[in-house]
Amino acid sequence: MIKNEISRIIQARQSIYPTQFNGNIIDKATIQQLFANAHCAPSHKLTQPWLFKIFDTTSKQDLLEEIYRINPHYDDTIKSRLQLKFDKSSHVICICMKRHEDKLPEWEEIAATAMAVQNLWISCVDSNVGGYWSSPRFSEHLHSFLKLENDERCLGFFYLGSYDASQAPKRDTSRRATVESKIEWI
Ligand SMILES: Cc1cc2nc3c(=O)[nH]c(=O)nc-3n(C[C@H](O)[C@H](O)[C@H](O)COP(=O)(O)O)c2cc1C
Repeated sequence: MIKNEISRIIQARQSIYPTQFNGNIIDKATIQQLFANAHCAPSHKLTQPWLFKIFDTTSKQDLLEEIYRINPHYDDTIKSRLQLKFDKSSHVICICMKRHEDKLPEWEEIAATAMAVQNLWISCVDSNVGGYWSSPRFSEHLHSFLKLENDERCLGFFYLGSYDASQAPKRDTSRRATVESKIEWI
């Protein structure tokens, strides 16, 4: 029998968006624990392909400037929306992945990295910490800014912020398909 506590935590995970953040800074011990949990993810041949580049209060503005630089078409409306997202986030994480081309197909390394992100995400449950995975197309253009090697890729951002969990909207499951539609008994 699956432990009820595990099911409750997994079913309580949700995307918390920067508009819901209160702007408070998450303490370093909490951040370290989130990534210690992320790092428990499985990976084929134990390649551990995930790499997380953590931008904090001071460095996140540099990341934002780089986003503007690689997107010269952004107008003031887009820029002020992004600025607000960055201001309200405590930390902005670049989710990266290192390929081991001689060992594994890329999909296995993306899958393992996503499992690490899921560990981080479910670790936010029951705390006043929330976030979501954002995957803008320009992520791939951050390669040199992030000092990534040729065999590394950026798969997007995880915006992390403090929020008041007691005020959070109830998790919306109305748009989810039924579990029955996703399984087939053979
Ligand atoms: C790989 C991945 C990429 C995502 N990219 C985006 C994104 O670019 N923008 C966005 O608003 N949400 C993004 N999301 C969050 C999803 O929209 C969100 O998880 C989904 O709507 C379900 O909501 P929930 O997380 O609250 O269950 C992404 C999620 C995943 C797993």
